[in-house]
Parts: sequence; C-alpha cells; structure tokens
Amino acid sequence: MAGEKVLNDVTIEKPVLEPTGALSVETVLSVRHWNEHLFSFRITRPASFRFRSGEFVMIGLQGDNGKPLLRAYSVASPAWDEELEFLSIKVQDGPLTSKLQLIQPGDQIYLGRKPTGTLVTDALLPGKRLFMLSTGTGLAPFLSLARDPDVYEFYEQVVVVHSVRRVSDLAFQDELSGKLADDPLVAEQAASQFHYVPTVTREPFRNNVRIDKLVESGALFEGIPGEARFNPETDRIMMCGSMEMIKQFGAYFEEQGFAEGSNAAPGAYVIERAFVG
Ligand SMILES: Cc1cc2nc3c(=O)[nH]c(=O)nc-3n(C[C@H](O)[C@H](O)[C@H](O)COP(=O)(O)OP(=O)(O)OC[C@H]3O[C@@H](n4cnc5c(N)ncnc54)[C@H](O)[C@@H]3O)c2cc1C
Ligand SMILES: NC(=O)c1ccc[n+]([C@@H]2O[C@H](COP(=O)([O-])OP(=O)(O)OC[C@H]3O[C@@H](n4cnc5c(N)ncnc54)[C@H](OP(=O)(O)O)[C@@H]3O)[C@@H](O)[C@H]2O)c1
Repeated sequence: MAGEKVLNDVTIEKPVLEPTGALSVETVLSVRHWNEHLFSFRITRPASFRFRSGEFVMIGLQGDNGKPLLRAYSVASPAWDEELEFLSIKVQDGPLTSKLQLIQPGDQIYLGRKPTGTLVTDALLPGKRLFMLSTGTGLAPFLSLARDPDVYEFYEQVVVVHSVRRVSDLAFQDELSGKLADDPLVAEQAASQFHYVPTVTREPFRNNVRIDKLVESGALFEGIPGEARFNPETDRIMMCGSMEMIKQFGAYFEEQGFAEGSNAAPGAYVIERAFVG
C-alpha cells in the first residue's frame, strides 16, 4: 500500500520520496483548511532539525519531472515544538501549492536541512515591546515567535498585527484572540504580555483599514502598555508580507529613526518578504 491513496473511489499513486543530502523526507500529521486560499499543516520533525523561531526552510513534493519541487516556507511552530507546522497559500495554478493543498495525513513531504532567516530575535537589539507586522501568510513566522517562551523573556509586550482581505483569512484567529490560553508553554506569560491586532480590509470587521492607517490613528496601540507611537529606543519591529507593504514600512521606520538589523549586525527592525512576486 506504500504511496497509494484512495480519494473518492479513485486510487492515486503517490511516489515514494527518497532523502537527499539537502532534504529529509517527513510525514504529514494533520491538515487544517482555513478557506479556498489558505491551509496549514503539521509534519514530523527529525531529531537533527534545529532552527530558531521565525526562520524559514525549503519544503516540497516530487515535481512532474521526478525531481524535488521546493519552495521557501516559514516554520509556523516554535523551536521547542516536537512537530513542525506550516501555513500555506493555495495558488490555483502554482507549481507547488496546486499539489500541496491536496496533502493528507500519512503523505510524505520533503524538508530542507538548512533553515535560515532574519526574523529572529538574534537580529534585533534588546527592547521593551516587540511588534510583528504581517499581511496574508506573512503571519507564519510570527506564529512561531509568539509561541516561543524565550520571546516573553526578551520583551515585556509581544504584539502580532495581521492584515488580511477577508475574515476567513484570519488563520489562527481563535488561538490568537484567546491569548494562546491553551498553549502549554506560553499560556501564562501570554495572558499578560501578548496582544493580537487583526484587521480585515475587504469585509466588515472591527478594524478594517490597512496597518499604516492603524498606526496613524493610534488604534494599533490600544490596550498595549506604553506610548501610542513607535519609539526606536524601546520598540523593536519585525515585518513579513507582500513586497509593497515591506518596502513602504521599511521607508517609514527608517524615517522614524529605526535601523535595519541582520544576524551579523542586530538593529531595531527586520524584514522578510512572504513570497516572491
Ligand atoms: C522567505 C520566504 C518565505 C515564505 N514563506 C511562506 C509561507 O510560510 N507560506 C506560504 O504560503 N508561502 C511562503 N512563501 C512563498 C512560497 O515560497 C511559494 O511561493 C508558495 O508556496 C507558492 O508556491 P507555488 O509553486 O504554488 O507558486 P509560485 O510560482 O511560487 O507563486 C506564484 C505566485 O503566487 C503568489 N504567491 C506565492 N506565494 C504567496 C503567498 N504566500 N501569499 C500570497 N501570494 C503568494 C505570487 O504572486 C507568486 O508570483 C515564502 C517565500 C519566501 C521567499
Ligand atoms: N485572500 C484572498 O481572498 C485572495 C483571493 C483571490 C486571490 N488571492 C491572491 O493571493 C495573493 C495574495 O493575496 P493576500 O490576500 O494574501 O495578500 P494581499 O493582497 O497582500 O493582502 C493582504 C493584506 O495586506 C494588505 N496590504 C496589501 N498591500 C499593502 C501595503 N502596501 N501596505 C499595507 N497593507 C497592505 C491588504 O490590504 P488591501 O485589501 O487594502 O489591499 C490586505 O489586508 C494575491 O496576489 C491574490 O491574487 C487572494
């Protein structure tokens, strides 16, 4: 039966994947579909796989030519988790996600052996408040960081801002608005330190403007201890989302006196695009 799946009475042969020097082969454990554009899934984590919360890694399936078809994905689970979680777009004609959206528990998936990235606390100077600004699937690395107990040791306040088009795009909304109360490792700290600011720009919702407008009006800071503006002395920023959003906010934060950080030279803000295009 290896590699065979029965879907709607149709038997689909799935290839058996072979590990390579750069890729291990993992098993899909669970899949959660949020809407027709978005899903998340958990896979096995090999003992040798080490990463820092916020990093990304290559994952994929076998392509039509028999070779691995890989794409970059932020790990959405924290570094302490025994499994790995990912949040994914479904691009209908996308080479990888047109197939990846069909995965089921028990299926095999490639996992790169070398995670990397700049959305890590190592790339930021110490500060009091950490603001994580995301659009769309740019939420993924912040799901990792917001569920990492170390982040609550480094920062007094931990804020996830998520801008999406539609209410159903607010993946993990229940967990985040419940301040991660069911999370075994961060529930206690998150109760007093975590803040979730969702905004939905193309359907009615309590916040329904883009993140820049929430900053301008001060709505983004409501309920968060400290000033109702960004301060380069005490605030640290991470951004992940569309290229346009990152460019605009990068320029804004530079104007406000924030310096961009990297693994080699930590700074006051760091960025990563959520996709190429
Ligand atoms: C550093 C990095 C981290 C990434 N992390 C994630 C992640 O955690 N989750 C995720 O779903 N994708 C992520 N991506 C995008 C991912 O690598 C693929 O592009 C995506 O899986 C689609 O693959 P595809 O082969 O189906 O289509 P592709 O040919 O890769 O993309 C087709 C087009 O779809 C659009 N698109 C692709 N990805 C997205 C997206 N995430 N959101 C909105 N539009 C998109 C773009 O317009 C793109 O040109 C990341 C990309 C980078 C560079
Ligand atoms: N999510 C969907 O319902 C949907 C449906 C069909 C196709 N898609 C495809 O998926 C791709 C990505 O869609 P997405 O919804 O994940 O991402 P998106 O279009 O980047 O929108 C996500 C959120 O980011 C906001 N945003 C976009 N540019 C911004 C900027 N420069 N500054 C501040 N905020 C900004 C959007 O606000 P605005 O709403 O104001 O733009 C929205 O709230 C698109 O190329 C699209 O073709 C998505």
